[in-house]
Formats: sequence, C-alpha cells, structure tokens
Amino acid sequence: MSATPQLLFKNRVPGKTVSYKDYCKTGGYTALEKALKGMSPAEIVTLVKASGLRGRGGAGFSTGLKWSFFPADKPAPKYLVCNCDEMEPGTYKDGELLAADPHQLIEGMILSAYALNADTGYIFIRYAYDQQLKNLQQAVAEATAAGYLGKNICGSGFDFELHLHGSAGRYILGEETALLNGLEGQRPNPRLKPPFPAQSGLFGRPTTVNNVETLANIPHIVNGGAEWFKGLARNHEGAGTKLFGLSGHLNVTECFELPVGIPLGELIEAYGGGVWRNRKFKACLPGGASTPYLTGEHLDIALDFDPLAAVGSRFGTAGVTVFDDQTCMLRVTLNLLRFFARESCGWCTPCRDGLPLVCWLLEKIENGEGTLDDLQMLRDQQQHISGRSFCALADGAMGPLDGLLRLFEQEVIDHIDKGRCPF
Ligand SMILES: Cc1cc2nc3c(=O)[nH]c(=O)nc-3n(C[C@H](O)[C@H](O)[C@H](O)COP(=O)(O)O)c2cc1C
Ligand code: SF4
Repeated sequence: MSATPQLLFKNRVPGKTVSYKDYCKTGGYTALEKALKGMSPAEIVTLVKASGLRGRGGAGFSTGLKWSFFPADKPAPKYLVCNCDEMEPGTYKDGELLAADPHQLIEGMILSAYALNADTGYIFIRYAYDQQLKNLQQAVAEATAAGYLGKNICGSGFDFELHLHGSAGRYILGEETALLNGLEGQRPNPRLKPPFPAQSGLFGRPTTVNNVETLANIPHIVNGGAEWFKGLARNHEGAGTKLFGLSGHLNVTECFELPVGIPLGELIEAYGGGVWRNRKFKACLPGGASTPYLTGEHLDIALDFDPLAAVGSRFGTAGVTVFDDQTCMLRVTLNLLRFFARESCGWCTPCRDGLPLVCWLLEKIENGEGTLDDLQMLRDQQQHISGRSFCALADGAMGPLDGLLRLFEQEVIDHIDKGRCPF
C-alpha cells in the first residue's frame, strides 16, 4: 500500500476546522491569484477538460465539457450553484470536506465562476449540516475581508458574490433542477430538460450546478496541472483522487481520500480494516444507496466510473456501504426502497405509485407471504419504472432492486420456498 497524495484532505485534522490563516500557509488561494493574474477563463475550462475531472455528485459527467456548454458571453446575471444537499444514504463525504477545510470550496467556486464568467454563486447546503454552515459563514466572511470575494477581486476586474442557502431537507432537493426551484422558493419538483440549466437555470438565467467535491478539486488542478491530476488515478481511464465514505459492516467506517481506481478489495481490507466480527464480505453498494450491488466476484475491480458501468453498477458518490455474509439482501433492498418511496416528490406516476408497490412486494416476500408471481411482478415493475420516470430519483431507486434480482435472485426464491426470511 503506497501513501496516497492528499489534496482535499491535505490539511484535515479530525475534529478541527482549518482556519483561513492555516489554509493560506499551505498554499491556499495561490491557485486563484495565479489564475487571475495569468490565465484566461477559456484556458481554465480547457485545463479542467484535459484533467479528466468527472462530476463528484453522482452522474460523473466531465466537468470541463459541461462548462464548455455554458454561455459565458451572455450578460449578467449568470449563476454558479454548489450542490451540498447530500441526503443520499451512505454518502457523507461533502460534509466531511466542509467540516475539515471549507476554504477549498470557496476558492474552487471563485475560480470556477471566473472560468464561467458567472457573477453570483450559491452554496445550497443540507439542513443538518450546522457545523459546516457555520464554517462556510466564517470562510465567506474571511474571503470577503481578504478581497477574494466581492468587486474587482485581486484587482483583476472580476466581480463575484457568494451566498449560502439552507436546504429544506428532502432528498429530491439534490436533483439539480429541483434544487433550482427550491432556491427560487418554489416547490422542488424537478424541471423538464431541455432547456438545461446552462441555457435557462436559476431565475431563468444561465446556471451551472456542481458538487462540493468537484469544485474543491479546481484549485488543485490549476496549481498542479492536468497531467499531474490524471496521473493520480490508479487506472488508465481514471483521473484524480476521490473521497470514499465507508460505512456498514466494516471494522473502520471513515472517510478516506484515495486514488480513483483503487480496487474494491484493497479499499475494504487496507482502509476499512476488513469485514467486522470476523465475517465474510457478501456485497456492497459502491457509490451510495442508488447504485447496484457489487459482490465477492468484484473485489479486484477498479473503483471508477467506466469499470463499474461495465459490470452493471455505478461509481456514484463513492459512498461504499458493506454487508457481511449474515445479511439478508432482500431486507437491505426493502430498507433502501422505503427511503426512495418516501422521498418521491410525487410528480410522476412510475415513481409515486411504482415505488410503494415495489416496497409492498418486497415486504410481502420478506415476511414469508410472497409467491413466484410476486417475484415476477417485481421484475415487471423494475422494467416499468426504469427509464420511464421524470427524473433520476426513481431510476436510482431501481439500482438496488436491479442488484437484488440479478445477483441475489436465489435468496429471494428461498424466502418464497421457506415461507420465511432465511437469515
Ligand atoms: C434524487 C437526486 C439527488 C441528488 N443529490 C445530489 C446531491 O446531494 N449532491 C450532488 O452534488 N448531486 C446530487 N445529485 C446530482 C445532481 O442532479 C447533479 O448531477 C450534480 O449536482 C452535478 O454536479 P457534478 O457535475 O459536479 O457532479 C442528485 C441527483 C438526483 C436525481
Ligand atoms: S421520478 Fe418523478 S415522482 Fe420521483 S422524484 Fe423524480 S419527478 Fe418526482
């Protein structure tokens, strides 16, 4: 196990928050000064594209490519919105980052706004993140006092103001267009796309929404360069480091910054301390509650977007939840589906009515009252819901159900045959 270069957790001391002074002592705000003095906005977009950075909010879209669609030449107002809603079960990395080192996000946002020629920013933050909100309030005040926020930043002629906005506390508010409705004070239903936020976003103006970790990577890319950033990954198609939030049946459940492409088995053994209670690994969610399971046959897989897509799963947010060999995967799936059904915004039928039906079927089988017809109905529901909902919430909810039916079908049949949960 070689030591991993630490970018995002470079200054992290558990239980403490890096102050403005300490952030500056370790190179903080040098990327911003470098960019404002010697780089054009277009150069930053090109650099970020070349770095291979992919969005850390779950979908993994190329950040530089997304920025290249932004109409930077349109008149103000134009918005940059940071998504820190982070309500998906098993995902807590953005909260860890902001608890430790909030100035990274502020510097990343100013740099990104400069690249996009956006004049106003919002950080949309999870209702439960009290400490992180306080950290950000202080960091914004310090950055403003230092001349990094406001008018004519560092004498460059670039203006950028940054606001903080608390979330009302529903999972759907993390979906970027629902978030924009929420920011506008409206009911947070997702919006129809197109138009995409880059064309018509917050208050109908050009808007880019990016995740906390995505934006916090920007100062490091500006300072280190695209090739350096790409080279941090373990696999040839990967780029950068990633915050892996471990949870579930492991001896160590913490958040680590590790190279993109680290094999699943190494993550579990070297960082998670192995499966707890001397039990064996059965399965995991590799990237939050909405990602299909991986099993023992995937322990050598590189944890990154493309390798996980190739085996029918997703890298998502890299919130890795591990289940030991005494776990009933049907029960796990029911638990996850209950969350998604409860958090449905109710706008479209496959999600509003389909998810409760899936819960009812899973509950029936888990309670030993299911039949093979119920199993078939579960398969049908998966087909009816996948790809047919208005937003990605219901598609995400089908992730664990897909994993259950594809990888643990025999376990479901055992429930039916025995007339009880076999665990
Ligand atoms: C139901 C739902 C919840 C989401 N929650 C979050 C979230 O909490 N944080 C986040 O960054 N992205 C979340 N996303 C993804 C966002 O819609 C969007 O893709 C992301 O913020 C873009 O940033 P990125 O390109 O930097 O990843 C969610 C998507 C869905 C469908
Ligand atoms: S899939 Fe439909 S009902 Fe579910 S959250 Fe999205 S828009 Fe709302």
